[in-house]
Amino acid sequence: MSKIVINGGKRLTGEVTVQGAKNSVLPILAAAVLCDGVCVIHNCPDLADVDTSIKILRNFGAKVDYSDKTMVIDSKGIENYEIPESLMREMRSSVVFLGGIVGRTKKAVISSPGGCELGPRPIDLHLSSLKKLGVDITEEHGYLYCDATKGIVGTEIHLAFPSVGATENIILTAATAQGVTVIHNAAKEPEISDLADFLNSAGARIYGSGSDTIYIHGVNKLSGTTHTIIPDRIVAATYMAAAAVTKGKITLLNVMPSHMVAMLSAFRESGCDINVTGKSLTITAPKNLCRVPTIRSLVYPAFPTDAGPIIISMLSLAKGTTVFVENIFENRFRYIDELNRLGAKIKTEGKVAVIEGVKALSGANCVCPDLRGGAALVIGGLAAGGSTEIQNISHIKRGYDDIVGVLQNLGADINIKE
Ligand code: UD1
Repeated sequence: MSKIVINGGKRLTGEVTVQGAKNSVLPILAAAVLCDGVCVIHNCPDLADVDTSIKILRNFGAKVDYSDKTMVIDSKGIENYEIPESLMREMRSSVVFLGGIVGRTKKAVISSPGGCELGPRPIDLHLSSLKKLGVDITEEHGYLYCDATKGIVGTEIHLAFPSVGATENIILTAATAQGVTVIHNAAKEPEISDLADFLNSAGARIYGSGSDTIYIHGVNKLSGTTHTIIPDRIVAATYMAAAAVTKGKITLLNVMPSHMVAMLSAFRESGCDINVTGKSLTITAPKNLCRVPTIRSLVYPAFPTDAGPIIISMLSLAKGTTVFVENIFENRFRYIDELNRLGAKIKTEGKVAVIEGVKALSGANCVCPDLRGGAALVIGGLAAGGSTEIQNISHIKRGYDDIVGVLQNLGADINIKE
């Protein structure tokens, strides 16, 4: 089993081009299933979750070619509408393929995604919304059987919570439905707008993405198209935190600062100097990081839950105490015990983490419990004196395209050992 080994304490400097967003590329690959023609998708990051998506697409019968971060998908041959259980287990967000395949073939069979490392992640909002659009769904022996052969018809849907995945599945199912679908209390994340932009470039008529009311006027057919995935705002924040804890100065190229307002505000409050020029951003670490009194994760445009582990890891080295309140997922603090092994002083109770800043971290062995928790440990290891070994790094490969190579280029002493 491979592990990441870091000899911490090296100051990071230089430039990094930020990869395409994981949370954009997955729904857009699902959307390619709906297109009657060849889709060319640029800036596709090389991730384990993208590999799983390619397997799902090929299993449906699509032709997929992936090289140099460009994916070419020809969905003409799609006939199968099942996602095997093994692929559902590899990636919980496979559920976003449901809307794409139901829209395309009017049928789907998937195994129930169940819980994940962040706690129970129900899909009740996905299923109740698809049912409202006319998809008949039955659950048997852990499988969901979906049938929309009687037709998918637009309707008004009010989401009880602005779920990102449910909003995406509704958009995908409704894009080629009959009539108009309106999503009230829709998710407003930039990745939703990226999905709508992709579909609109293929001939869809989706209005209002980025706001809490989205209108989807169903069209008969979608064509092939070309699209570039937006930059990953969570990956950008990860490299910023890595620079901040090593007293470094780095420039990020290919970022959308307007997608990162809540995060940039937390970095600035901690004393980092951030200089934004168009689609690039330079962060200069302060001599000493200072606490940010309270950070609360909430839906966009508030502070993203996925950046919680990253900012907590950084603020474990700040002067003073920070309180972080996690409002989206129930079980997001599992990496904190591991971070404490490096000498951090963080206590958690329920959805609250109290981070008492320490002067320094020191290297230790730790185990990566989930994707962003793994990123938090890498940040801790970069700051820590001595050697840090991180095991179970397959989680990190789900969301970071060559994190080790990127950090080496910035001057870190970090390697993968088999
Ligand atoms: C997406 C992101 C994930 C991010 C999350 C929140 C992808 C591939 N993943 O996940 O990185 O952390 O948004 O920004 O884009 N919920 C229900 N019922 C549902 C659906 C969700 O109760 O049917 C709850 C969840 O349990 C959770 C909350 O809603 O507490 C947010 O989930 P959601 O916005 O759906 O997140 P995902 O789409 O799974």
